[in-house]
Amino acid sequence: MKVYRGTLVHATKENPMEILRNGVIGVDTSGKILFVKDDDSIENLAVEIGFNPSVHNLTNSQFIIPGFIDTHIHAPQYPNTGTKMDLPLLEWLLAYTFPLEAKYSDLDFARDVYKKVVQKTLSCGTTTASYFATTHKGASMALCDAAESCGQRAHIGKCNIDQNLPEQYCEETDASLRDTEEFINEVLSRKNPLITPAITPRWAGCCTPELMCGLGKLAQKYDLPIQSHMCESPAEVKFVTELFPQYDCFTDVYDKCGIFTNKTVMAHCVYLTEFDVALMKERGVGVSHCPNSNLSLRSGMMDARARLDRGLKVGLGTDVSGGCHPSMLDAIRLAIHTSNAISIQRPPDYRPISYQDAFRMATLGGAEVLALDDTIGNFEEGKDFDALLIDMESPSSRVDTFDFHSIEDLVQQFLFMGDDRNIQEIYVCGQKVAEHGK
Ligand code: GUN
Ligand code: FE
Repeated sequence: MKVYRGTLVHATKENPMEILRNGVIGVDTSGKILFVKDDDSIENLAVEIGFNPSVHNLTNSQFIIPGFIDTHIHAPQYPNTGTKMDLPLLEWLLAYTFPLEAKYSDLDFARDVYKKVVQKTLSCGTTTASYFATTHKGASMALCDAAESCGQRAHIGKCNIDQNLPEQYCEETDASLRDTEEFINEVLSRKNPLITPAITPRWAGCCTPELMCGLGKLAQKYDLPIQSHMCESPAEVKFVTELFPQYDCFTDVYDKCGIFTNKTVMAHCVYLTEFDVALMKERGVGVSHCPNSNLSLRSGMMDARARLDRGLKVGLGTDVSGGCHPSMLDAIRLAIHTSNAISIQRPPDYRPISYQDAFRMATLGGAEVLALDDTIGNFEEGKDFDALLIDMESPSSRVDTFDFHSIEDLVQQFLFMGDDRNIQEIYVCGQKVAEHGK
């Protein structure tokens, strides 16, 4: 057993940010949290558990938080990160994104990129990622290999596309479903509890109802999470609405095709009607809020306060490379700033989201939308210890703090000013999987 003693910061069901100042957390050899308390008396602990455990004592500039959960990221788009954001969504997809994704028929190229993206996100503190891969089954398996060898927890989706795209990016419906089921079986046969196949219809605009219904059935057969895009930009909503006149609206298409389940996460959800929100709530569909992407591609500003007030599950996503940064700290900041920007246009009683709300979305909220909240997201007994050891006085990135700063100030400064150099140790299921500078 390992014991960590010092400041613990996490979200609970009731509180977006709970701080245990005298925290003690015990982790067993299988990586599960055995106990969590706010009482650093080690003598009491030794009596309680019947032996003297080896204890990792944190310093005053250190604290432990749950690992970040990126609920929406395109691993194959990593080479384009931070470039090519001069076009709006639909044009951006055709000009830059699909041509890059087509290259993943080359397995060597896929292996090289996927190792880099997993190492990068892990070093930024993403202990769990919900990845889109490409349509290629082999390359999608290479992404599983990369996550597995680096020890990252991941939902990984072979992407499905069967209409409205040039032939070189498009699949035949039957082949797409067959490849997806083979991919699922191959991933499941590895029996790695950290890696889960995710059903990934790219978006309604490039999937036929036949394909989406088939994917909905696969999700049900194997009890799998589903991920897709929805209501991202005005042009994208118009495209889907005109493509499917036989359906009531965008959300109705997904719902009738069996894509809306309580394990479904929909990226963006900027333009939702009252009907959409009610349907998502009824089905238990979660939102992946991707503020960087929504601003970089000028798609719109999602009102996170409105979604939370309606009781929807909300997590954060980097949406690399629509989003120009792979770090969840960036997603946290842009979620707060987007909410602030919205508030400027609203009556004075409008409450933008707080930094605590954004922290919750990056951790427990992410676990909820990925249906992993029984396993990860915060420090509760029985959950896996996925965690980040933060040091504000890391030699390579010191954030100046002063005597009068409270622990809340320290945490807030990490969220607003910190970077990967302050993330000293990274744990997934109790195992140290990365360390800053190593
Ligand atoms: N909609 C369909 N595909 C994509 C994608 O790759 N990125 C974003 N942001 N939206 C999409
Ligand atoms: Fe996306």
